[in-house]
Amino acid sequence: MKFSLIDTPIQNFDGDCVVVFTNSEVAVSDSNIQQLIELNNFESKPGTTLLLNLVDGFKATQVVVLGMGDLPNTAKNYIKALTSASSVLNAIKSKSVMIEALDIDDFDENWSHRMAARVLQNANYEIQQVGVDKKDESIESIAIQSSQDDVHEVLKGQAIADGMSLARHLGDLPSNICTPTYLAQTAQDLAKEFNLECEVLEEADMAKLGMGSLLSVSKGSIEPPKLISLSYKGNSNAKPIVLVGKGVTFDSGGISLKPGAGMDEMKYDMCGAASVLGAMRTIAQLQPKVNLTIVVPTVENMPAHNASKPGDVVTSMSGQTIEILNTDAEGRLILCDALTYVEKFNPEVVIDTATLTGAVIVALGKHHCGLMANDQDLADDLLAAGRTSLDSAWQLPLDDEYDELLKSNFADMGNIGGREAGTVTAACFLARYTQGYRWAHLDIAGTAWVSGAKKGATGRPVPLLTQYVLDQAD
Ligand code: BES
Ligand code: MN
Ligand code: ZN
Repeated sequence: MKFSLIDTPIQNFDGDCVVVFTNSEVAVSDSNIQQLIELNNFESKPGTTLLLNLVDGFKATQVVVLGMGDLPNTAKNYIKALTSASSVLNAIKSKSVMIEALDIDDFDENWSHRMAARVLQNANYEIQQVGVDKKDESIESIAIQSSQDDVHEVLKGQAIADGMSLARHLGDLPSNICTPTYLAQTAQDLAKEFNLECEVLEEADMAKLGMGSLLSVSKGSIEPPKLISLSYKGNSNAKPIVLVGKGVTFDSGGISLKPGAGMDEMKYDMCGAASVLGAMRTIAQLQPKVNLTIVVPTVENMPAHNASKPGDVVTSMSGQTIEILNTDAEGRLILCDALTYVEKFNPEVVIDTATLTGAVIVALGKHHCGLMANDQDLADDLLAAGRTSLDSAWQLPLDDEYDELLKSNFADMGNIGGREAGTVTAACFLARYTQGYRWAHLDIAGTAWVSGAKKGATGRPVPLLTQYVLDQAD
């Protein structure tokens, strides 16, 4: 898909289709569109669309009217309108499209360009069916109305969409295809395409490093575990930002087996990994002046005669011992060794992202990612990045009182903290491994995936992560 910025009146655009907003000054009030809106009993609110053909005064054959209601032009309404526009554009198979400019509250024109490119490019994402060739993109070109001609922000939006597509694709793949080995191959492919440094540690390498916690999860599976690192260097003087992503390619629960209903969805337990790979793709494409390293511990969590059992005690790379009270709290067991491992990169900050707890879905639903941090400045930067990218996070506490719930009689800590505050005790567990650097944790169990009719991966939190990294480059 090719994006451009053009400064012509939208009526004069002679492609297939133009997209206008009900509350825009020009297109709607200067034509008979207002009349057609009334004639069609069109209910104008964010998310509604009206498709018109051969409108007087328009050179394009088709006009898509996006309902905005009388509401202010909030960022959220803008995204809703653009998202519904993209499904209409796909359905009518438009090849060349122009979209009208619209002022958005609290955001500048750069932001609208970036967001329009991101949302419309994302609309081209399709779940790739096993054994079926990828279809061609339907929309070929999109012109955004603007008096400026710097396409920089548009390219950013596209790169973010590309990162999101990679994350969604990996999340949507079934676990018999998307194994730890597959994720390692994906990282190596990215390294080749974008000239990045890639290292993949095998089981024996991890055993040498003393990663007894990570290996206690993978040992019940026939799939070999991997520890992937991928580095982009855009600034020779800076310490790297390190992103760590949970890569459990299937979470059966292990011996603490999960119930059967909806268990298919546990293929998305690698969406933390997918999001850091996606973020790396975006950053490598944009080449900002930062250093970024991503680290992905990846395993499959299965029950087997040689799987870890409740009550087993393991020693992590940090030397701290862990009583595995529940083999389904496996994410923290692989992350803690990865979080010790990343010390070798001398990180500026470390941000991990993980589908870590069902409890975060209870607390925050599907809207905000759960955020916990040992450094308030870092938390504030991430909250701001979430607001700008409309990929928001909400902070939860990390007080010592919660940490006490991890007490074990048989080891330095248990791997669960009981029924209460499950998202916070999971983060408290990780916090015991991140004391050497500024660290934040994003629990994305609620936001990385949607269930129901639109079942699939969302590509979150690629927008938040990339916004944060790009902010650090400015
Ligand atoms: N991968 C799950 C968390 C999860 C649950 C992600 C639902 C997406 C949807 C994680 O490994 C897990 O099983 N967590 C347990 C922790 C519990 C045993 C303390 C949970 O949330 O139930
Ligand atoms: Mn689990
Ligand atoms: Zn899990």
